[in-house]
Amino acid sequence: MTNTKQYAYVDTYGCQLNESDSEKLRGMLIEMGYEITYDEFEADVAIVNTCAIRQNAENRVLGNVGELVHIKVPRKKKIIVFCGCLAGIPETVEKIRESYEHVNLVFPPNEIHSLPEFLERAKTERKRVFIEDSKEYKIVEDIPKHRDSKIKAWLPIMYGCDNFCSYCIVPYVRGRERSRDKVAILTEAKGLVEGGYKDITLLGQNVNSWGLSNHRHSALTTEFSETIRHCGLRAAIPSTEDNNQGILHQVQNDVTFPNLLKDINAIPGEFLIRFMTSHPKDASKELFQAMAESEKVARHIHLPFQSGSDRILKLMNRGYTRAEYLDKIAYARELMPELVITSDVIIGYPGETEEDYNDTLELVEAAQFEAMFTFIYSKRPMTPAAKLDDTVSPEEKQKRFENLVTIQNEISEKKHEAYIGKTIRVLVDGEAKGELYPLKARTNGGRLVHLVGDPSIYGSFVDAKITHSNNWALFGEA
Ligand code: 5AD
Ligand code: SF4
Repeated sequence: MTNTKQYAYVDTYGCQLNESDSEKLRGMLIEMGYEITYDEFEADVAIVNTCAIRQNAENRVLGNVGELVHIKVPRKKKIIVFCGCLAGIPETVEKIRESYEHVNLVFPPNEIHSLPEFLERAKTERKRVFIEDSKEYKIVEDIPKHRDSKIKAWLPIMYGCDNFCSYCIVPYVRGRERSRDKVAILTEAKGLVEGGYKDITLLGQNVNSWGLSNHRHSALTTEFSETIRHCGLRAAIPSTEDNNQGILHQVQNDVTFPNLLKDINAIPGEFLIRFMTSHPKDASKELFQAMAESEKVARHIHLPFQSGSDRILKLMNRGYTRAEYLDKIAYARELMPELVITSDVIIGYPGETEEDYNDTLELVEAAQFEAMFTFIYSKRPMTPAAKLDDTVSPEEKQKRFENLVTIQNEISEKKHEAYIGKTIRVLVDGEAKGELYPLKARTNGGRLVHLVGDPSIYGSFVDAKITHSNNWALFGEA
């Protein structure tokens, strides 16, 4: 690296796992000597960390990658990097190769730990570098992270997905499910708490099968860089022996997600534990019991149901029925009456009839979610559902979508109204531009609160009086 400062820019699309990956990208870039910039024109390296979940996500990303051609100003050698889930789809990579010649480097999500090596190649080889998935599905520990927030932290506990829901591209681009080692997770969690983080979200495509996946696929765990460890730039992960002498208090022996929650709950300090996403088929009684008995675990679960029709659920390969889903949330609410439940639903799956759709409406009425994300089915390459005829017309899909959104908005509005007049504990986790409500906060159940209060309370837990609400947020005073 020359004496002049080099700047790197990372643009992130999609879910929290991608946000977390981008923190690793930034961490590695800083370790390589780059300064992080939020202005793509200033960047010497511009990375687009992409999302593949739906076609409209893909279109948006490709549009913006196309625009990046303008940041390649004359006489300045810029490296443009295309990574994330879209870089795991062979057809999309072909498109980049053919029509996006300004992109210098492409690598899929499972190869992220090799960014330093790839960048070096892109700079020295004077030709475009295309990396394929090695299919090794390693777990690489100790990748440096540059966290965006000082209050909220992402903590990935597993990678990949083995559920193969028929519509979903994730198992094809993120590969086989593998769980991080418990000691590594607990050590990171403890470090976060000691570092002042107040809100820790455990991440995985299906956190409820954490630990189980190691029995199915023994993942190879390696370290990011021995050199970095030896330079003392970052603390090494303590050995199990060290941990047993202090950090890890009394850990539960059974490697299950409910036990992991209890172990993290036992770390001293005032903080909240969140997790996402949960798959209903693996959301067990033990999970809800562990939540109920762990006071630091937030009273919130995001439990995507996807469809209310047993017929469609079966076609989707979801592994539960509508009745089982409703039983599970009833049990969870029995244990934790204050539990906030949010969900995802897909409408317009190939072959979805009016009757199937009505089953979904019924489930939504019965479940009374605080919030729900409604998605129109999108055909994704490599998935089994892509082979099915898309029978529902775009107009019909749009009608079903709008109807469902209206129904859920009414439910959310009612649920939020119930908070008015109450004083609740919230974590002030953001500042807002609006003059009326200069702060943003989250309730324990994860609802957004626009808050009146002094900026000095940013980062702390405070009591807030809720004064009004709408279908997506609460408003209150600290
Ligand atoms: N089409 C529409 N929605 C999808 N999701 C996943 N795959 C698709 C698809 N092909 C939705 C699911 C999932 C959320 C993250 O995205 O509801 O829970
Ligand atoms: Fe996709 Fe299903 Fe895995 Fe979620 S559980 S990532 S919807 S395959």
